[in-house]
Amino acid sequence: MTTSSTTGPTSPRTDGKYARLLSPMTIRGNVLRNRMITTGHSIMAPWHPAGDETTYVDYCRRRAKGGAALLIAQPVNVEPFHDWPWPVVDRLKRLADAVHEEGALVTPQVVNFGRQIGSHVLLDERAEWSFNGGQDEFGEAAHRMTSAEVQLMVDAFGRLAEVFREAGLDGLELHGAHGYLLQQSYSPWGNGRDDEWGEQLAFSTAVLQAVRSGLGEDKILGWRMTADDQLREEENGLTAEELMDVARRLVDTGHIDFMNLSIGTKAPAYSQPAVASFRYPKGYDLELAKGLRDAIDARVPVVGVGGIVDPDMAEQALADEMCDLIGMTRGFISDPDMGVKILRGDEDRIRTCVRVAECNSRRVDGKVVQCWHNPEFGREARFAAVPAPARRKSVLVVGAGVAGLQAAEVAVKRGHDVRIVEASDHPGGRLRNILGTRAAELFGTVDHLVNELRHEGVRVEYGHRLTAAEIRALDFDEVVVATGAEHDLAAHGLDRPGIVSVDDAIVGELPEGVKVLVVDRTGHNPAGVAVEKLALEGHEVVYVTPFDRMVTNGGYNHRLDYQDLFRRSPLITAMTFKDLRSFENGKAMLVDPDGIESHLLGIDVVVAAVHPVPRDGLVHELDALGVTVHTCGDVIAPRGVTTATREATLLAQTF
Ligand SMILES: Cc1cc2nc3c(=O)[nH]c(=O)nc-3n(C[C@H](O)[C@H](O)[C@H](O)COP(=O)(O)O)c2cc1C
Ligand code: SF4
Repeated sequence: MTTSSTTGPTSPRTDGKYARLLSPMTIRGNVLRNRMITTGHSIMAPWHPAGDETTYVDYCRRRAKGGAALLIAQPVNVEPFHDWPWPVVDRLKRLADAVHEEGALVTPQVVNFGRQIGSHVLLDERAEWSFNGGQDEFGEAAHRMTSAEVQLMVDAFGRLAEVFREAGLDGLELHGAHGYLLQQSYSPWGNGRDDEWGEQLAFSTAVLQAVRSGLGEDKILGWRMTADDQLREEENGLTAEELMDVARRLVDTGHIDFMNLSIGTKAPAYSQPAVASFRYPKGYDLELAKGLRDAIDARVPVVGVGGIVDPDMAEQALADEMCDLIGMTRGFISDPDMGVKILRGDEDRIRTCVRVAECNSRRVDGKVVQCWHNPEFGREARFAAVPAPARRKSVLVVGAGVAGLQAAEVAVKRGHDVRIVEASDHPGGRLRNILGTRAAELFGTVDHLVNELRHEGVRVEYGHRLTAAEIRALDFDEVVVATGAEHDLAAHGLDRPGIVSVDDAIVGELPEGVKVLVVDRTGHNPAGVAVEKLALEGHEVVYVTPFDRMVTNGGYNHRLDYQDLFRRSPLITAMTFKDLRSFENGKAMLVDPDGIESHLLGIDVVVAAVHPVPRDGLVHELDALGVTVHTCGDVIAPRGVTTATREATLLAQTF
């Protein structure tokens, strides 16, 4: 392994904490200033001749500035047609320059999906090229490459490497996991040919040679290996031992400079365990990283990745020789300054990723990717350009839920004099409800904001309900009302005996043995969290929703987590296209979209998963008194934390 502990920028820390994490490493003469890296993550439109990666370059520059040593940038597709990717060489150069200016290295990921994902992501939407034809996981038929076409594909990998070299990138990572073309080539699941390309490592070896030749000897060539393909026996995948044997033989070629890993095969389903939610343990793939490192006798550095969100776990993993580099991908999504905070001893101020997987869920669901509590995500240049306030103002924030805390944090960091007042005796608003559930990690968002305010000298005033008249008399320059929302079943015509709100179901405890009907009319996570909690407590649960799928707005990762639970738990019955028409004496009358009724007997409690209503009385009272107020978060309309943090930030940037 080529490592060095004497080159590169060093930490201003003198306490020796995180000595391993902050130690540099040299790979083929390229100095990684520390061991923190981001692994490949697609967050914006893929590289395309007609694209514009300005926002993406800003995003990467920000992470480089924030202390990451190496960014494995989002994938560039390998296309065997035209002169791709020469049309994007200038943009790749801009990426390289931006990251280098901030002292980091950048090796984008390189992928051909083979018979996965769908032809809609390919240039000109040509057919998916594969080794054995068949179909992808969505049912699209794939093309079986001729022997000559396989060679064209190899050449395309080599051409891409030449373009990367020309662009001044530091190398690349070949995507040999997640079931894409390289994994297909070395797995009987994806290959099974009887020509020369049927030999297990024929394609990988040819690609490695072509890429090394295109890159030159001084650039970094990484490989992302699947450490567990998670295929069923009849799907003809490889065992863990066989995969490690492939890894060993790939390293034998001498072309690979680091080994990264991931798990799972079929996209996007692989991302449930590979970009896992808080339902999985932290550092969930570290044992696999250790296995890979052992299998290849630590001949090249191995990346440990998967739910490593804090520096203590990272340092321990290095100390235990489980890996040599640490992938902290969502860590840097959540807090781009994580590296510099660790470098300067401010690790207690990291906005730690709470593993809600909103980022991945939004990507898979085809929405603009956002982070649950980093509102700067994807707006890096815009945030950098926000002008400083003309003068220091007095700011009153009413409500210490996520929106209020966030508005207060941004305002105080902009130099304002901030007071924040909360009617209850604790922060967090409705997010507090999750504290007794498997989603408790999400409360880290609130803890972080309260901690930041404390560092800035602002203490939340609890147990103080300000009236509109008092607020007017206080005469603040800016007043922000972020009083959130609360359940009012009467507003939904559901204020009947035996019906409780989803919040009450999550927070409260039902007597043993009761049978519960959860009616999910919003499709949002509280319904899923309630079902999960009730079933884990041993209650029999029937879940119904008028939507076409369960917890439809919960986000991809959570839908899959719930589906697993709903499918596997003998206590849960789930039905879509069903709503509640009435509930009386244990009999729940359901109705489908055609108006056809069916009924359930023996229901003890109905949980109504409906939207809470904005707690906006104070807003109207202030309005009547002629006081100008700002609002953000659920008091406008209840939409959850991601919206609240973004809205509060954008608001507080205006004064
Ligand atoms: C939004 C998002 C997109 C991702 N896209 C990719 C990808 O294109 N290629 C890849 O190999 N992994 C991808 N990943 C997986 C990450 O590289 C990483 O393995 C995973 O997030 C677990 O590490 P973490 O817990 O440090 O985030 C993605 C992850 C996220 C959050
Ligand atoms: S969206 Fe959630 S999982 Fe993704 S980076 Fe932000 S906090 Fe972490």
